[in-house]
Amino acid sequence: MASMPPAQYYIGLMSGTSLDGVDGVIVDHQCQRIIVQTYQPYTEQLKQDLRQLTQSGQTSLSNLAEMDIKVARIFSDTVLSLLDKSGILATQISAIGSHGQTIYHQGGRYSMQIGHGAFIAEQTGVTTVADFRMQDVAAGGQGAPLTPMYHRLLLNGKSGLVVNMGGIANISQISNDIVSGFDTGPANTLLDNWIKQHKALDYDRDGLWSRSGLIDKALLEKLLSDEYFQLCTPKSTGPEYFNLEWLASYLTGNEAPEDVQRTLVELTAMSISQYISDKSDVYLCGGGVHNVFLLERLRYLNPNSVIMLTNELGVHVDYVEAAAFAYFAKRTLAQEPSNIVEVTGAKQTRILGAIYAI
Ligand SMILES: Nc1ncnc2c1ncn2[C@@H]1O[C@H](COP(=O)(O)OP(=O)(O)O)[C@@H](O)[C@H]1O
Ligand SMILES: [Mg+2]
Repeated sequence: MASMPPAQYYIGLMSGTSLDGVDGVIVDHQCQRIIVQTYQPYTEQLKQDLRQLTQSGQTSLSNLAEMDIKVARIFSDTVLSLLDKSGILATQISAIGSHGQTIYHQGGRYSMQIGHGAFIAEQTGVTTVADFRMQDVAAGGQGAPLTPMYHRLLLNGKSGLVVNMGGIANISQISNDIVSGFDTGPANTLLDNWIKQHKALDYDRDGLWSRSGLIDKALLEKLLSDEYFQLCTPKSTGPEYFNLEWLASYLTGNEAPEDVQRTLVELTAMSISQYISDKSDVYLCGGGVHNVFLLERLRYLNPNSVIMLTNELGVHVDYVEAAAFAYFAKRTLAQEPSNIVEVTGAKQTRILGAIYAI
């Protein structure tokens, strides 16, 4: 009788605050190599419903339950598509690490994700670890960022900085195995929401619209003086804070929309630049990497830094976060912690996540 191939892979699933869709990967047993990757975009309807939910902070319990299942279904479909694409069997997967979709994050108080792990486990037949953030929060931490632990693995013993530019930007600084990290502020979330409001587009492709505007120096100065940028670490944030109401509180109402977009690119670039100037080993990842204009600005503002992409470390910029959650699932099953107390501020390291075993 042919023996079953051993379970030797992990799956990671991630959708961030941009609400664009699910990034999924199958990684090898060491979580150091991506075997296959896929992206499952959210439907327009789901994006709209999630935006409504996250921006208003209001819904009925029945709608929340329904959204939880809808999101779980897309996460499950992402797994099935990864298996299909690779020819790897569900029985060869040790576990899925699913971040879920954050719908409410207030660092230090609460961090809520939907896309239930039980549903994903049933739909895929694979043990699923989900709800990674709450144990850190319960232990007094921000619940974010968690990825620094994986960024250390990615750097494989080297020193360096990893900057993830999703809806929010977070940075990890790794030096001699000492890891620090925090959210620097907005990366794409304000850019996406401003262009959505003025041009009904999901994002400013390649930064073309922002390139057509001029920096409003007075506005930029006011935005940069916001208290979040002055806060000491540990700190984490989300679109609950950096949203169009936040922006409106700094606008006079006389600004040209393209100038605001241009100024928001500079806000992202400058709030990151203060941590990467004169550094010789900066690796970028996340969807913001595709904003050609944003990258141009980061390079312009940091002429003495060597700015690379995580692709040079072997992991595609769009799948770093997904791979991180595969790694965290492995750590959870091995009863190893995935939070770093210096990063999140939790009182102790904790084994993260809830396990839905099959
Ligand atoms: N070609 C592009 N030009 C400009 N921005 C882009 C481009 N491609 C992706 N993005 C940005 O990346 C975001 C998605 O990045 P992602 O890393 O998935 O963020 P999150 O982790 O918040 O989901 C989009 O919402 C958009 O702002
Ligand atoms: Mg995304």
